[in-house]
Amino acid sequence: MLNAVERKIEQFIAELNDENSSNLYKQIPHGKRLRAKLILLVSNSAKFAIETSAVVEMIHAASLLHDDVIDNAFIRRNKPSINAIYGDKSAIMLGDILYSKGFYELNNINVEVSKVISNAVVQLSLGEQNDVIMAKEFNSNRDNYIKMIYQKTASLIEASAEAGAILANEDREIYKTYGKNIGIAFQMIDDILDITSSADTLGKPAMHDFKEGKTTLPYIYLYEKLDDSDKFELISFHAKDLNNDELNWLLDKFKEHNIIEFCKNEAKELVVEASKLMLKEGNEALLKIAKDMIDRDF
Ligand code: IPE
Ligand code: IPE
Ligand code: MG
Ligand code: MG
Repeated sequence: MLNAVERKIEQFIAELNDENSSNLYKQIPHGKRLRAKLILLVSNSAKFAIETSAVVEMIHAASLLHDDVIDNAFIRRNKPSINAIYGDKSAIMLGDILYSKGFYELNNINVEVSKVISNAVVQLSLGEQNDVIMAKEFNSNRDNYIKMIYQKTASLIEASAEAGAILANEDREIYKTYGKNIGIAFQMIDDILDITSSADTLGKPAMHDFKEGKTTLPYIYLYEKLDDSDKFELISFHAKDLNNDELNWLLDKFKEHNIIEFCKNEAKELVVEASKLMLKEGNEALLKIAKDMIDRDF
């Protein structure tokens, strides 16, 4: 079924009838297709599941094109990002084209699906905006962090699960809650991997978030644990290009206070909540997706 999604995306791109866009799009490597997998699994491949999956993956790709401009990130999916090769303008315009084609195609699916997905993209965009605003200063507020990652990442994952439920006439609330919980856990793990993984494994830069000003969950919990003088040191490192000694200071402190374990457990708790729902539904495949959320290393 994922193959059919790939073909559908190719068809949507071909319909643009624009050589430049087609050539640019061909240079974007495929991702893990998490959102498409969710739609296909929740909907049990119901009518319009392929189209919805294709639209959501195009929208997701658009968000990444813009995100790499916003984050000054030059590697994506193990390859140079579109902004790295062709500059910010090309990445922004291709993002706009993918967003708009996606929204256009949503009209041919179902009004409810269309509302759920387009509302998620509003949330995603607000989340990206909040991420940038919050990065101007060291953020020590966990609730603000959770709200922002819900918006920028979990909203589209939640909407994918809900859209699948709409297509299959299943209980929307159950799948929505499942999607929200794994979505927040997904971004928590993404933020942990920024610290624990190498750039090679990630397929994108490592230890990049804090340099960009992003005080992700591990930094928030580290701040809570440090004494006043170390707190001061940590804040002085915020949004700077750190040398090896400084990076090692951070890594040592994370270790000393067991921060990564603590954060992983928090993500795990959300996955357990999501898994309980799928246990009740008896859905093995969605249980596995939830479990893989925690076990992934890229
Ligand atoms: C990357 O999402 C952006 C985040 C929300 C963390 P994915 O990790 O799902 O990206 P791909 O599509 O697999 O590359
Ligand atoms: C990605 O956020 C969220 C969206 C693209 C909407 P991040 O900036 O945290 O993700 P990565 O680390 O670049 O994939
Ligand atoms: Mg980014
Ligand atoms: Mg970002």
